[in-house]
Amino acid sequence: ARYAVLLAGGVGSRFWPQSRTLEPKQFLRLGRDKSLFRRSLERIHSLIPAKNIYIVTSPLYGDIIRSETASFNIPLSNLIFEPTPKNTAPAIALAAKIIFDRCKDEDASVAVLPCDQQITNKNRFSLLIRRAFANCRDRFVVFGIPPHRPAMGYGYIKAPSKGSFGPANILRRVERFCEKPDLKTAKKFLKQGSYFWNSGIFVGSVGVFLSAIRTHLPLLLKQVSAAASAEGEEGLASWNRIRPVSFDYGVMEKTRNAAMIPADGLGWSDLGSWQAWDELQRKDKNSNLLLADIVDIGSRDLTVLGREHLIATIGLKGLIVVDTPDALFIADKKKSEDVKQVVDILKKKN
Ligand code: GDD
Ligand code: MG
Repeated sequence: ARYAVLLAGGVGSRFWPQSRTLEPKQFLRLGRDKSLFRRSLERIHSLIPAKNIYIVTSPLYGDIIRSETASFNIPLSNLIFEPTPKNTAPAIALAAKIIFDRCKDEDASVAVLPCDQQITNKNRFSLLIRRAFANCRDRFVVFGIPPHRPAMGYGYIKAPSKGSFGPANILRRVERFCEKPDLKTAKKFLKQGSYFWNSGIFVGSVGVFLSAIRTHLPLLLKQVSAAASAEGEEGLASWNRIRPVSFDYGVMEKTRNAAMIPADGLGWSDLGSWQAWDELQRKDKNSNLLLADIVDIGSRDLTVLGREHLIATIGLKGLIVVDTPDALFIADKKKSEDVKQVVDILKKKN
């Protein structure tokens, strides 16, 4: 059997002020009609029966998840709520444990997917997921996106082509996994070649997930299991003791049991910043994107998102403006990634 686990519990600070704890990136519409979460669900729904789709998230997002999933017939018992966010390793461990307890089949294959990304080529996505499922009984299969800039926000996979194997040589041995390198290292990887960006999707059998977590994060697996099996207070206490860690740092950087499928042509973007999102939007003839009640005179390369105020702009260039009821954000597009620093400062203030 095949399963999918959607990770939908991240809080996301990179789209401040549009994204807040209560409205993180995956549920944002950012001027589009459907949220990234909704699109992620649609992509996987065409490959996996609804009864085998699981969603791990925070109780904060219960309402939004229930309304976004209503038309997909996903059983309510497949919505897994973490009492508190502990990053992706505990979320994945919990889902793997629950799936195993229900199906009792170590060979069942599981695709764990983030839901904060854009993938425009759906057919290619389906093909690659099917290939991964066919090859994941004894190992993790991950997808490598050809990198085009020294981004620091991704995991990097070293997978030289000489290590190709498997049916039609589609798999490459993962020699190294390095999560979120500093700029210097990222530049080095880009120059060396044979490094790919990790797409954030992990495919493996239930047995592969559970045994890797048992090997590399034994305490975490015990705490997650205790939380899943104990009732009420006791389970909660066990969950609260978990030390947060991402699956990338906790498992992928350590395991030697992973293969990569090169995943060019997906139309993949993590949309990890205002700039990355902005680059993908269609603009008017002056390269502006004005999604607000706005009067503009003579601006170029200007992006404005606003919902409430009447906005007027004159002669601006290369800026992004995001107006929300309680915060106004104005940034040089090229520096908009630094919004993380703003969020850090605001957190310290509160
Ligand atoms: N349930 C749950 N609980 N989900 C979470 C939690 C949590 O505590 N934290 C994050 N998530 C969800 C996010 O909502 C997102 O869908 C997914 O897990 C990945 O988390 P991110 O926080 O967005 O990770 P990232 O973007 O920094 O890095 C990951 O994705 C990159 C590609 O986009 C890594 O896998 C990188 O290696 C990868 O390159
Ligand atoms: Mg992400």
